[in-house]
Amino acid sequence: MSVLDRLGQKLLFTFDPETAHGMSIAALRCGLPVGARTVRDVRLNVSLCGIDFPNPLGMAAGYDKNAEVPDALLGLGFGFAEVGTVTPLPQAGNPKPRIFRLTADEAVINRLGFNNEGHAAAEKRLAARKGRPGIVGVNIGANKDSSDRVSDYERGVTRFAAYASYLTVNISSPNTPGLRNMQAREQLGELLSRVMAARAAATAQPPVFLKIAPDLVEAELEDIAAEVVEKRIEGVIVSNTTISRPALRSTGTAGETGGLSGKPLFERSTIVLAKMRKLLGPDMAVIGVGGVDSAETALEKIRAGADLVQLYTSMIYAGPALPGRIVAGMARFCETERLKSIRALRDSRLDQWASKPLS
Ligand SMILES: Cc1cc2nc3c(=O)[nH]c(=O)nc-3n(C[C@H](O)[C@H](O)[C@H](O)COP(=O)(O)O)c2cc1C
Repeated sequence: MSVLDRLGQKLLFTFDPETAHGMSIAALRCGLPVGARTVRDVRLNVSLCGIDFPNPLGMAAGYDKNAEVPDALLGLGFGFAEVGTVTPLPQAGNPKPRIFRLTADEAVINRLGFNNEGHAAAEKRLAARKGRPGIVGVNIGANKDSSDRVSDYERGVTRFAAYASYLTVNISSPNTPGLRNMQAREQLGELLSRVMAARAAATAQPPVFLKIAPDLVEAELEDIAAEVVEKRIEGVIVSNTTISRPALRSTGTAGETGGLSGKPLFERSTIVLAKMRKLLGPDMAVIGVGGVDSAETALEKIRAGADLVQLYTSMIYAGPALPGRIVAGMARFCETERLKSIRALRDSRLDQWASKPLS
């Protein structure tokens, strides 16, 4: 980390996590020159679901919930940015404090509960950038008090299909009561049928990805894979935050309720990713997220079966130059290993990861 990054991070860490997050969004919105020089390397190009990604590293959902800064994020070196989760109506989310740093673990626990400004606000911003280059996915969710959650997802598809490079159906947040039950087979079948019908009727037909939790057992993964294949969803994002608590060094905040993300999530989310890749076969899109904090961890997700990877928590600890550094590291790896394409690495450790138990 450069001296400037270290200073910036030290400053942000004097504020509570949610204020620090707001300040980082404001800095990006103002166009402050943060981040590193971005690397372009054809060996990092990934072609997936008809989209040409300049590199396989994306910003995960939850950082830019209201689609305020997707282009600034792309400017940091990310190959794509996912905005949201957006719900039809604005909602405040859970009472504060609701984000907690676990500094000794390079992890975070959050129980935000889909705080966001709602569809209309996000649509306005996305409409204003329509036609600009850059891959921007839109992650859609349901309002906590909705009487018909499936219809909230349909509305998300209808509203954002024209603006989104891809759509993510997020049913894996642990912070909206009952939401993750939509991962159960029967409910998932109905949700995906209606989402795909909404897409067919929309003005544009971007790929649809399903974002799942890491806290699933093998039988549940099998059910999800079967529904994804049957309903012809284009891919799966593995994973959201975990409600499990692997051995943690931090005391105090480690006991907070919510979803854990960052370094301690890497192992579990990578095992689930590999198991999903095995279940879905080689042709379906699989995006790996959870604990990516370096070129090495990003490459390991690809070895475990990921086409693309995303990160969020590590940027809280390493600052805005991190994506540029990771992308540069991946390009160096291609050079030293004489790889013509990063795609050649995919699945090279699939069996090792997929055979690990989900303890
Ligand atoms: C503060 C915070 C807010 C998040 N909000 C969302 C969200 O709105 N939608 C979503 O799909 N994932 C959300 N996530 C999950 C991330 O997208 C990602 O799946 C998870 O944090 C694991 O990646 P990481 O270890 O790189 O952070 C959030 C994560 C954090 C830390």
